Amino acid sequence: MQFPTYIRHHRLRAWIKEIVEHCEPARIHFCDGTQAEYDMLCNQMVETGTFIRLNPKLRPNSFLARSDPSDVARVEDRTFICSVSKDDAGPTNNWMAPKEMKEILLKLFKGSMRGRTMYVIPFSMGPIGSPIAHIGIQLTDSPYVVVNMHIMTRVSTKIYDVLGEDGDYIPCLHSVGMPLEVGQPDVPWPCNPTKYIVHFPEERSIWSFGSGYGGNALLGKKCFALRIASVMARQEGWLAEHMLILGVKEPSGRKTYVAAAFPSACGKTNFAMLIPPEEFKQAGWEVTTVGDDIAWIKPGPDGKLYAINPEAGYFGVAPGTSYKTNPNAMESCRANSIFTNVALTDDGDVWWEGMTDEPPAHLIDWQGRDWTPGCGRLAAHPNARFTAPARQNPAIDPEWENPNGVPIEAFIFGGRRSRTVPLVYQAFNWTYGVYLAATMGSETTAAAMGQQGIVRRDPFAMLPFIGYHMGDYFNHWLSFGRRLKNPPRIFGVNWFRKDENGKFIWPGFGENLRVLKWIVERAHGQAVSVETPIGWVPRYEDIDWRGLQFSPEQFEQVMECNVAEWQQEVLLHEELFIKLYDRLPKELLSVRDLILSSLWRMPEKWGATHE
Ligand code: GTP
Ligand code: SPV
Ligand code: MN
Repeated sequence: MQFPTYIRHHRLRAWIKEIVEHCEPARIHFCDGTQAEYDMLCNQMVETGTFIRLNPKLRPNSFLARSDPSDVARVEDRTFICSVSKDDAGPTNNWMAPKEMKEILLKLFKGSMRGRTMYVIPFSMGPIGSPIAHIGIQLTDSPYVVVNMHIMTRVSTKIYDVLGEDGDYIPCLHSVGMPLEVGQPDVPWPCNPTKYIVHFPEERSIWSFGSGYGGNALLGKKCFALRIASVMARQEGWLAEHMLILGVKEPSGRKTYVAAAFPSACGKTNFAMLIPPEEFKQAGWEVTTVGDDIAWIKPGPDGKLYAINPEAGYFGVAPGTSYKTNPNAMESCRANSIFTNVALTDDGDVWWEGMTDEPPAHLIDWQGRDWTPGCGRLAAHPNARFTAPARQNPAIDPEWENPNGVPIEAFIFGGRRSRTVPLVYQAFNWTYGVYLAATMGSETTAAAMGQQGIVRRDPFAMLPFIGYHMGDYFNHWLSFGRRLKNPPRIFGVNWFRKDENGKFIWPGFGENLRVLKWIVERAHGQAVSVETPIGWVPRYEDIDWRGLQFSPEQFEQVMECNVAEWQQEVLLHEELFIKLYDRLPKELLSVRDLILSSLWRMPEKWGATHE
């Protein structure tokens, strides 16, 4: 086998050679991350029908991909944490013994790349050479994956210099699992009906088979930066989280960074790119984006927490994204972007539900069929996505590539809850905050295969992404906080409360700044609040309402809590706790009891104005 001379790493050479012999690709392409390589692969995919080039006048240098209709989201039931001991994966992960799993995978991968090119992708999660960054090498037979990795991570041959002859990297093996026999026609989106997304935490490796989609296939993202990184983080004393990172600048010039966790398709990208309401903007309020999906957080020498965004692009939910709701996302994907499973307009641009008030009169839908308004089908898949370079975000934070990260002063946790959970509340202390995050519930979305809209516990928005036992994860958060002199304040939010007609009560999006303002002030020990059983809440007059008609009655509606519903909620917490029984931190049971006892003294309902 011929290696480029710049690959001097012995173990890496041996691994690549072994995979080539096993998967039998027809060719090998060593990726260099250049624009020329990106253009070459895009052109090639236009020829094979994987990509449709969009109208360069409307959407320069951008492409549409339509996936196989069976390959549209993460497959949680096919995702495995194969630790040596089953107990270490815990009851919330699928598990199989590593030896047994490797036998299955080796059979599936045997000859799986036949007829195809195998790409070797050297990538860094985080700025190349940063002390917080980590390196991965992905082997894949999907050119779609290569160009998406170009946008989402830092792909460069410089990675090999950092690695040298013996540096650490995460081996990431990926195949769509559809060998191409000579003379056989290929399909635009090859994927095997059998799928396995597998993590070996002890040897820190990833094997992904059968899917070409997002979190299943772009292995730097959920597989590495969350599942494997969460294992590394616990061992090394840091945090790898499903969190956005944003900066808030107030008129005074004070800058505050916060990190916020919301489950998949529950508002991270939108919150990270928030544009303040006009009156606030004019007064000098500014929100900037550091990251929109993943945060790596490490304690700094000054005792503060510093966070980096390990990614370099956005793999954002398209439906619902518009110049009204999220102009910064629209600008980010104005050019040089890849669109997956959106609709195609007659003039060669893209469209999705919610992009404009009026749908176009005719479209080609995400499955390539004619579409007209009222035909009874969605034009874009609910989990349709854009892949866009972060640097194209007009609100990108000046520090977003700072290798040392940005200081975090508050954590926010939010689910999608049509009832029960108020717009905003603050945990009494770190332990209460861990309880709040650990017991978070959210209605399921299209980001994962399976039933949508049912409330499930999604602790820390990490249920599908923790690479080890969830009880150990809670313990890690508790002990991590104990070691901090001045831990960040912790808040809960819920943008998704609905009225009796099923309409969102809270306007959301840019208006979320009003909640963020209270949070930032609280984090600095400033704004007023009232105590309730679940935490401190603002009164109507503690929120800045300039420029918005939102009555005290409406506020009451989004803040209202009810004893019977919260007792029911605590029972659902209990269901999770029972599942995690053998490794559940005892502190969480104490917090539960304190909540129950203070519910006891409350009137049947309470709201923001309760004293
Ligand atoms: P992942 O990329 O899957 O991790 O998701 P995400 O958390 O980044 O979610 P995103 O910001 O893309 O939001 C998903 C959906 O929620 C979109 O359709 C948004 O329009 C909608 N959404 C986001 N913020 C709000 C809000 O404040 N209010 C309401 N009603 N909807 C929102
Ligand atoms: C999510 O599902 O949380 C995502 C999209 O951010 S994916 O990359 O497919 O995981
Ligand atoms: Mn996500």
